[in-house]
Amino acid sequence: MTDQAHNLRNLVEQKRKEKIDKIVNEKDIKVYCIASGKGGVGKTNVVVNLAISLQRKGRKVLIIDADLGMANVDVVLGLFPAVTLFDVFFNNKSLQEAIIEGPEGIKIIPGGSGMIKMTTLDTAQQSKLAEEFIQLDDIDTILIDTGAGISMNLMSFIAFSQEVLIVTTPEPTALTDAYGLLKVISELQLKKSIKVIVNRVSGKDIALFTFERLKNTVEKFLRINLEYAGYIMDDIRVSNAVMDRKAFVLEYPNAVASKCINSISDRMIGKSKNEIRLRTMSEVYNRLIKVFG
Ligand SMILES: Nc1ncnc2c1ncn2[C@@H]1O[C@H](COP(=O)(O)OP(=O)(O)OP(=O)(O)O)[C@@H](O)[C@H]1O
Ligand SMILES: [Mg+2]
Repeated sequence: MTDQAHNLRNLVEQKRKEKIDKIVNEKDIKVYCIASGKGGVGKTNVVVNLAISLQRKGRKVLIIDADLGMANVDVVLGLFPAVTLFDVFFNNKSLQEAIIEGPEGIKIIPGGSGMIKMTTLDTAQQSKLAEEFIQLDDIDTILIDTGAGISMNLMSFIAFSQEVLIVTTPEPTALTDAYGLLKVISELQLKKSIKVIVNRVSGKDIALFTFERLKNTVEKFLRINLEYAGYIMDDIRVSNAVMDRKAFVLEYPNAVASKCINSISDRMIGKSKNEIRLRTMSEVYNRLIKVFG
């Protein structure tokens, strides 16, 4: 693990500084990685529905299904991709060739469903991905859906993203596994601050209570700051929509779960608007200093 951790840190330093920062700064793309410790807590549903919600609010969203073992974004949306992220890495296809269009015009790079074993990407493959990102046009928000559990691939995608959203449910098993993931992220010093979405709650209070409990433990033992990104109610229409292979925000726009997703996307957009405003303010301030200072 120590050697792997060392290699990973090198990889992170190289990639992030030379390429990822370049995309982010020059093209102003916001990259979010959605992860969880325990599987089945709702990551894919969060990604798909959040993507549609953000797109409807004017964002140009790309979903990357980064679970090379058991991809499922396409399954949830009832799509049948011909080229997947797996082909980008192993069959010389470009990201552009793999992009398909989903509901409301969101773009999707499907993973590789049915792969027998989880594949760990090497530095060259990571670098190819980063280079191809630079060339993608007409996208300002990237949501990366990841597989369950802690893997080198997951750590690379976390390092690659500006924001990490961890999905958990209030169940002790999900929380313990979320803590386990946060511990690895902290040990590898990949992120200082991470956001949490509490899924499948019976009410807002349970969500806040769950978050506060996790935050207290994390901030006591790890060097990571946890931020609350919002909650999603447990709602039968989520699984109904999955059965129909449709996004619940489209199938049931008035469902409580859909309203929760819309609040989360509001907050994501609101925050970046503030950031833009702050940046503009500081530019004005700097100019004033130049003129009068
Ligand atoms: N808010 C919710 N209300 C009710 N059911 C939900 C909710 N969120 C998720 N589910 C149920 O949990 C199932 C798993 O969700 P999803 O596939 O999004 O999890 P995941 O974290 O992506 O799983 P994996 O780790 O296998 O990729 C869904 O098919 C749905 O039935
Ligand atoms: Mg999933």
